[in-house]
Amino acid sequence: MQVQLRILRYDPERDQKPEWRTYTVEAGPMDRALDLLHKVKWEQDGTLTFRRSCAHGVCGSDALLINGRNRLACKIRVDQLGRKISVAPLPGLPVIKDLVVDMEGFFEKYRSVLPFQIDDGRPPVRERLQSPHDRERYDDTTKCILCAACTTSCPSFWAQPSYVGPAAIVNAHRFIFDTRDTGTEERLEILADADGVWRCRTTFNCVDACPRGIDITRAILEVSGAIVGRGS
Ligand code: SF4
Ligand code: F3S
Ligand code: FES
Repeated sequence: MQVQLRILRYDPERDQKPEWRTYTVEAGPMDRALDLLHKVKWEQDGTLTFRRSCAHGVCGSDALLINGRNRLACKIRVDQLGRKISVAPLPGLPVIKDLVVDMEGFFEKYRSVLPFQIDDGRPPVRERLQSPHDRERYDDTTKCILCAACTTSCPSFWAQPSYVGPAAIVNAHRFIFDTRDTGTEERLEILADADGVWRCRTTFNCVDACPRGIDITRAILEVSGAIVGRGS
């Protein structure tokens, strides 16, 4: 079948502003949006620029605004999208070229919540043990692939780009509730900031956008509960 693929194109060296261009692509129902982008790039216009690496929903590099929703291009198929498909860069981040956005601000926020294990610095006599029950506590938030689909679908982030955003909170949650970690206080202090968890208005866009099915609002509520719990 033929699919009409509209892509928001922008080359800052040549264009005044972004512009939609439409490409007709031969596709099957099981082709993914990423396959269509490949067809355009390889067969029609080699200047089309987008990111992808694994092509199997693992690396998180091809999150795009597809038919008005943030999704991974490698995980959404033609039979789910229809014969008219629009593809634009993730909203709320500066566009470098075509579908490629500048992720530096996103990763800066991720780094700001100390997304690594902090311990007392003394080498343990044996491995740091953790019960299956304690491991389960943060299992959901270990699944994040840092695709940015959640943060860039969040109205609070659009309104206030300094908001740390759901992805950073998810990755803070992963360590805050890890019984082997000793950096909880430091992280909660960072997330109690004006640009931290309180900017969330439980809009749920982030949950709808997450390709890993992470219960993001639950993670945010657990982190805000831990912040409140510090005072009691
Ligand atoms: Fe992507 Fe989900 Fe991680 Fe957000 S929480 S960055 S949507 S994988
Ligand atoms: Fe934004 Fe998700 Fe909260 S969309 S407002 S972080 S529930
Ligand atoms: Fe890696 Fe889609 S290309 S997640």
